[in-house]
Amino acid sequence: MAVRQILNMGNPVLRQVARPLASAELASPGFALLLRDMVDTLHEYGGIGLAAPQVGESIRLAIIEIPGGPTRYGELDPMPLTVFVNPTIRVLDANTAGYWEGCLSVPGLRGFVERPQHVRIDYLNAAGESQSLELQGFSATVFQHEFDHLDGKLFVDRMTDMSLLSFEREFEEFQQATFIE
Ligand code: NI
Repeated sequence: MAVRQILNMGNPVLRQVARPLASAELASPGFALLLRDMVDTLHEYGGIGLAAPQVGESIRLAIIEIPGGPTRYGELDPMPLTVFVNPTIRVLDANTAGYWEGCLSVPGLRGFVERPQHVRIDYLNAAGESQSLELQGFSATVFQHEFDHLDGKLFVDRMTDMSLLSFEREFEEFQQATFIE
């Protein structure tokens, strides 16, 4: 098990547009190792999504794992551990909903972000096979948050009302809503 250090906002790697992975790279031992480390890191920090740039690798790779049932995030649609390589996204319904987002790279803060709630994602899995997935609701928001990391964007860039940026303690004291990390 190897937990990687997570880069915090201010590190320029988080602001780069990450490069696509070549299919040959997916078969390399380095890729398997990075993926294992990312899963270990996600579990260690108790997050539900992690993008490779957050561990200093500027490549288009992200993982998401959403526990089902009642959790400290509220009642969620579960998503098993899913690996997204070179994902593309298409918004199927522009109607938005907002969640209080958090980010392992922006520790201690929560912010309210509205995003489209029905998207289609085309991507490669860890074996390099083409996959597609339609996501709705919370999981659509989680994916868009991770996808943004691949383009050098953080959730704070998506906020339209900066009065809805809060420290976690104050969030728990004064806000009642779903949040993600
Ligand atoms: Ni994040």
